[in-house]
Amino acid sequence: MRKKVTKAIFPVAGLGTRFLPATKAVPKEIMTLVDQPLIQYAIDEAREAGIKEFIFVTSRGKSALEDYFDNNPVLEQTLRKQGKTELLNILRRTNMESGAIAYIRQHKALGLGHAVWCARNLIANEPFAVILPDDVIAAEEPCLKQMVDAYAETGGSMVAAMEVPKEKASAYGVLDVDEDMGSLVSVKGMVEKPKAEEAPSNLAVIGRYILSPNVLRNLNKKEAGAGGEIQLTDAIAKEIGGENGVYGFRFRGKRFDCGSKAGFLQATVAFAMEREELRDELGEYLREMMAAEQAAQ
Ligand code: G1P
Repeated sequence: MRKKVTKAIFPVAGLGTRFLPATKAVPKEIMTLVDQPLIQYAIDEAREAGIKEFIFVTSRGKSALEDYFDNNPVLEQTLRKQGKTELLNILRRTNMESGAIAYIRQHKALGLGHAVWCARNLIANEPFAVILPDDVIAAEEPCLKQMVDAYAETGGSMVAAMEVPKEKASAYGVLDVDEDMGSLVSVKGMVEKPKAEEAPSNLAVIGRYILSPNVLRNLNKKEAGAGGEIQLTDAIAKEIGGENGVYGFRFRGKRFDCGSKAGFLQATVAFAMEREELRDELGEYLREMMAAEQAAQ
């Protein structure tokens, strides 16, 4: 029997400089898509995939995240008195059970691999998930759930993967495909942020991972890679050719790069259009705006 994936690491130590000044006093992960902070989408996805323990790798200035997941008894009581049950339920979804959530500080910004390694003492000899909250994935079946199901068949380590235009490959970890089996691909190499002309394929790593505990041992060596940072990609690549191998998983869904302003705005519009109470008004506004723009050309 394969061990179940019940723990997820959320690397949230980044400074979010691309969103300054918004991120001067508010962590990037608290920025809202429609009416929900970015991090709530990641938590909901993890829960639906069966994750029971949530490990945040934070840094200085991220205490708003801890407050966000704390209970707010005064607010809850006020809503209860006012009979606002629906709001109360929305609020309760943000509460985390005591002991289900842990915060670890990354004391130096040494890269994504290092951030994940900071959580090593909270992971026993078991597979674990990593979710990068900047990558928001709209999907009928949550991306991590799809991966957990696929992982039950394959074992090993698995990364979410998506085709990107070749000239954009240098922004991602890129897979060197061994065997392409459709939604699953077995991997014979992985390169972090290759030059576009040197990318082994256009299949890019997206921020969802299910990893063997060996990856944490590989990170112990603290070897710097692309950009002088300790890269998660390199530590996963060391598992290739090992007992259970490494797989890419082409998920079903649409990924938004909420680490960029354009991606964040696209996600905002897409998620708002999914909401019944917003769809008509927003849709009409977008159509008017497009028509006005076309008329002006
Ligand atoms: C990280 C990973 C990279 C991956 C990307 C997905 O890069 O290092 O392998 O392709 O996330 O979003 P970052 O975007 O943090 O530079």
